[in-house]
Amino acid sequence: MLKELLLKYNRPGPRYTSYPPANFFTEKTSLENFKSVLVKSNSEQPENISLYFHVPFCPQLCHFCGCNTDEMLKMSVVELYFKSMLTEIDNVGALLSKDRKVTQIHWGGGTPNSVAFRFIEEVMVRLRGMFTLAENAEIAMECSPAYISKDYINKLRSVGFNRISLGVQDFNEKVLEIVNRAKPKYPIEEIVADCRDAGFEGVNIDLIYGLPLQTKESYLENIKKAIEIRPDRLVTFSYAHVPWVKSAQKLLEEHGLPSPEEKLEMLLSGYDAIINSGYEAIGMDHFALPNDELAVAKKEKMLHRNFQGYCTKETTGQVYSFGSSGINQLHDAYFQSSKTTSEYIKLIKETGFAIVKGYELSIEEKVIRQLINEIMCNGLLNFEKIAQDFKLSVAEIKRICQFDESKFNEFLDDNLMNIDGNKLTVTESGMMVVRNIAMTFDPNLAENMNMYSKTI
Ligand SMILES: C[S@@+](CC[C@H](N)C(=O)[O-])C[C@H]1O[C@@H](n2cnc3c(N)ncnc32)[C@H](O)[C@@H]1O
Ligand code: SF4
Repeated sequence: MLKELLLKYNRPGPRYTSYPPANFFTEKTSLENFKSVLVKSNSEQPENISLYFHVPFCPQLCHFCGCNTDEMLKMSVVELYFKSMLTEIDNVGALLSKDRKVTQIHWGGGTPNSVAFRFIEEVMVRLRGMFTLAENAEIAMECSPAYISKDYINKLRSVGFNRISLGVQDFNEKVLEIVNRAKPKYPIEEIVADCRDAGFEGVNIDLIYGLPLQTKESYLENIKKAIEIRPDRLVTFSYAHVPWVKSAQKLLEEHGLPSPEEKLEMLLSGYDAIINSGYEAIGMDHFALPNDELAVAKKEKMLHRNFQGYCTKETTGQVYSFGSSGINQLHDAYFQSSKTTSEYIKLIKETGFAIVKGYELSIEEKVIRQLINEIMCNGLLNFEKIAQDFKLSVAEIKRICQFDESKFNEFLDDNLMNIDGNKLTVTESGMMVVRNIAMTFDPNLAENMNMYSKTI
C-alpha cells in the first residue's frame, strides 16, 4: 500500500535545502550588495553564526557524484585555494559582529580529509582569531574512508572537531569499483572505533542506494552492517541521477541502474530495518539514535534544516560560507561563490570575495521559506504561529501561500495529512512524501520542473 503511494508521488521536485532553490539565484548581484547584507545580517535572526567550508578536491572522482568537486591535480592549486580561504575568512569576519557566537562549523566537499592536515589546521586557527566560538559548538567534517587514518582522526580532534561523517556509500567493494570510488583505507568498524577513541561525540555513516549492482538484498546487507557499527546518525541517500547536469553519471547507465520500483523496495525495507533496530527517523532518509540531539529536536518539533543538512533550532545560525560554490544562507538573502576553483582563487585575489550569484528574499518568500521548512522538518504547520512570527494575520499568511484546502485533497484522501482549522499535520506515511506536500506551498514550482530529480 505504502509502496503504491510512494510510486504514485514519485515526481520531479526540489529538495528544498533552500527556498527558493539554488537554481533561482541570479547573476544580478554586486559585491557592495553582499557586503551590506553581511553587515545587516548582524541585527537579524537567528543571531547565531554557522560556518561552512567547502573543499572541492577529490583524488578520485566517483561517477555517481552530484557534489561540486575538482580532481586534485596540482599541490600548488590546493595551496592557493587554502590561502584564498584565509583571505575570505579575514574579509567576511571583519564585517560580522564579534558578539555573535559560532554554534556550527561544517566542512564539506569534495573530500576535505584528502588534503594535508596543515591546511585544515591553518583555517581552524584563523577562524578562532576572527570569530567567537560557542562553548559547545558543533564542529563537523564529511570524510571519505579512503583517505582517513588514526593519526588524521586524532589531529582533527585536536583542533576541535567533534563530529565526523563517513561516506561509506556501500560496503561491497565491487560496487565501489564499478562507480570508480576509492576503497576505504581500513575497515569502517575500525575507523569508527578510532573516532570514538579520539573522543568524537558524533559519528555518522552515509550510505547511498540506487547504484549499479545494488539489489534490495545487497542494500539490506549494507544496512545490517551499518546498524552493527551503531553510528549516532545514519543517512541513506537516494541516488539522484541527473546526467544532464553531471555527465559522468551517464557512465553508470552502461552498467544498468535499479528501477524506481527496486529503489522503492530498498527505501522501504531499509527504513523498516533501521527503525526496528532502535533508530528514530529524522526525515525519510535520515536516522538518529534516540538520545541524539536531532532525535530529541524532532520530538520537540524543533528541527531545522540548511544546506548542510538537519540541525536543531538552537544551533542553527545564518550560514556564512567559504570556498568555491559555497552558499551564504542569510536571513534576507542567499549569495553563492564561484563554482570553479580557478575563478574562485582569481576573484579572491582581485576583490577579496568570490560571490557570483545571489538572491534577495521578499517578505512573501521568507514566509513561504518558513512554511516549507516547518512542513519538511517537523510535519506540522500552525498558521497562527507563523502569523505571530511575522507579525501578520493568519489571512495574510494564507494569501501569501495561496492556501486553498482543495489543493490538498489528494493527500487528505490518501491519509497523508490532516487539516484542523489553522493546523496542518503530516501523518507518518505522509512524511515519506513530505517533499510533495511542501511543493503545494511553492508558487514558483511550475518553472524548471524537469531539471529536478524525482522525489524518491
Ligand atoms: C561530499 S560527499 C561526502 C564526503 C566524501 N567526499 C565522500 O564521498 O565520502 C557528500 C555525500 O553526498 C552523497 N552524494 C553524492 N552524490 C550523490 C548523488 N548523486 N545522489 C545522492 N547522494 C549523493 C554521498 O552519499 C556523500 O556521502
Ligand atoms: S562522492 Fe565524495 S569522494 Fe566521490 S567524487 Fe563525490 S565528493 Fe568526491
